[in-house]
Amino acid sequence: MGKILVNDQFISREEGSIDIEDRGYQFGDGVYEVIRVYGGKMFTGKEHLTRLFESSKKILLELPFTQEELTAKLQELMEMNKLHTGTIYLQVTRGAAPRQHQFPGQSKPVLTAYTKEVGRPEEGMNKGMTATVADDVRWLRCDIKSLNLLGNLLAKQEAMANGSFEAILHRDGTVTEGSSSNVFIIKDNQLHTHPATNLILNGITRRVILQLCNEIGLTYKEEAFSVEELYAADEVFMASTTAEIMPLVQVRDVPVGDGKPGEWTKKLQVAFKGAIQQQCGELVGAEE
Ligand code: PDD
Repeated sequence: MGKILVNDQFISREEGSIDIEDRGYQFGDGVYEVIRVYGGKMFTGKEHLTRLFESSKKILLELPFTQEELTAKLQELMEMNKLHTGTIYLQVTRGAAPRQHQFPGQSKPVLTAYTKEVGRPEEGMNKGMTATVADDVRWLRCDIKSLNLLGNLLAKQEAMANGSFEAILHRDGTVTEGSSSNVFIIKDNQLHTHPATNLILNGITRRVILQLCNEIGLTYKEEAFSVEELYAADEVFMASTTAEIMPLVQVRDVPVGDGKPGEWTKKLQVAFKGAIQQQCGELVGAEE
């Protein structure tokens, strides 16, 4: 099972406990990150932790440690658990205080983190997955990676119930992002994705992808596109820390292009693998 990190202590999972009035538990009052680890090394760890600090600032949560201190702790946790290829999940809540909506005068933020061994989703990345389309009913601060995820969960659940892997969300016909990913289309050799506004989470994978576009000579536009444009796209894919670059070969009942992962998507996957290898070394034993 390995150790978990609670504040600055490494303990076994059984030893961990959550106060019944922890504000994360009662209100979802906290922020989180999911970081990918390949071959024992964090991929874009710095970017994830920078975003954690930004999310915290946006909810007026002052973290009682520095980014360097947190990095060192996560490094220790990974080594302790001999994590090869997998994820680190970490969250910080505003801590425990008598239940009231306004922020407590005094509460100590609670950090928890754990690791999970999980391979790269090779099969899905090779054959592509399917998606549904759902109304984006979430709040207007989707740029914050907050623990409040019910809007995302309801959409994902609906997708899964329909046998789909992801729900592509839209507001009044404008595509925002996926329930747990960013969404991209390619039309006439140009990539389109929603700009990094308050309506989406500016994914770390998204940022890497936009850099890779320059590398592989694919022009891109950070401009919102409609559900109609989604259906008419040559290629569609979603991207996240865990799903990497996942081709979507069918949206609702409509096949995307010829129903197979598109050529630009495959090129981006190759470039993405290169970026991982550059940071983390060879990907031996990283498959599903
Ligand atoms: N989710 N948008 C949403 C709503 C997300 O939940 C995620 C990631 C992303 C992609 O962000 P990134 O590339 O930084 O992982 C976009 C994570 C993986 C999760 O909640 O499990």
